[in-house]
Amino acid sequence: MEATKLIWMDGKFVPWEDAKVHVLTHSLHYGSAVFEGIRVYDTPKGPAVFKLKEHMERLFNSAKIINMEVKNTPQEFVKITKELLQKIDLRDGYIRPLLYYGYGKMGLDSKGLIAQASIAAWPWGAYLGEEGKLNGIKTKISPYSRHFPVANLNHAKVSGFYANSTLAKMDAIKEGYDEAIMPDLEGNISECTGENLFIVKNKEIITPTTDNVLVGITRSSIIQILKDNGYVVREEKITKEDLFNADECFMSGTAAEITPVVSVDNKNINDGKVGEITKFVQQKYEEIIHGKDEKYFEWLDFVNE
Ligand SMILES: Cc1ncc(COP(=O)(O)O)c(C=O)c1O
Repeated sequence: MEATKLIWMDGKFVPWEDAKVHVLTHSLHYGSAVFEGIRVYDTPKGPAVFKLKEHMERLFNSAKIINMEVKNTPQEFVKITKELLQKIDLRDGYIRPLLYYGYGKMGLDSKGLIAQASIAAWPWGAYLGEEGKLNGIKTKISPYSRHFPVANLNHAKVSGFYANSTLAKMDAIKEGYDEAIMPDLEGNISECTGENLFIVKNKEIITPTTDNVLVGITRSSIIQILKDNGYVVREEKITKEDLFNADECFMSGTAAEITPVVSVDNKNINDGKVGEITKFVQQKYEEIIHGKDEKYFEWLDFVNE
């Protein structure tokens, strides 16, 4: 990864190489941390962060879901993020806020602990590669299911939960695929390791309900863009058969943005080429994040304003 100059840690901007924690950091052992992934894009009006407020609100909601006591507020984090981006002069890249339990107590009972905080940002290109974004990626249905609600709380971005995503991702990569599509416990499609999933059938767009997936901020944005452009979007169960027989398929996420899926389990989706609606939504999303559509300016937080 490409280092930048500074990272914000518990109230101070510290040099990148000094942003360190003790080896007995609680969250390192038990995954008791919450985090966000956010992107900043270059626009004609200077760098702008996509849906910054929404991401910070989700971060603090994740903390609340795991009963984490936090000293800061989402509003403070919005301000600090913009300050950090100005200080490191990052116009295009990825932002990673983290709330975690530090050094001082071991054991699973986190009562009495107060979250420590950091915000880092660095340049990060297409998560699934430029080629994948352009011509689509190859996926497999994972042998690892997504968390079931009685085991975990899928609406929270908790570090420990991502061991599940790592297993699925590594399994897919090992077998020569780009990404894994994860089933729920009933075998229906839920989401990918760090992305939500959409299919297109007969010009209608379908995505799984939010019961068993992370409620993606990109997911909500895509639903809004499609509806604004007259498309029908339905949130409902997707079976494996629905996926295999889809006309188009794409995934959405802050890191992956809009990435077309052209095959699942070595079966082509339709003719194995990127579909028309996928191309449309990808292009519209690119225009919006790069500040080329005034109608959606409210989704952008301009860093220098
Ligand atoms: C499991 C999972 N699903 C979906 C997403 C997409 O969410 P968003 O669009 O808010 O980045 C992410 C990324 O945060 C994720 O980790």
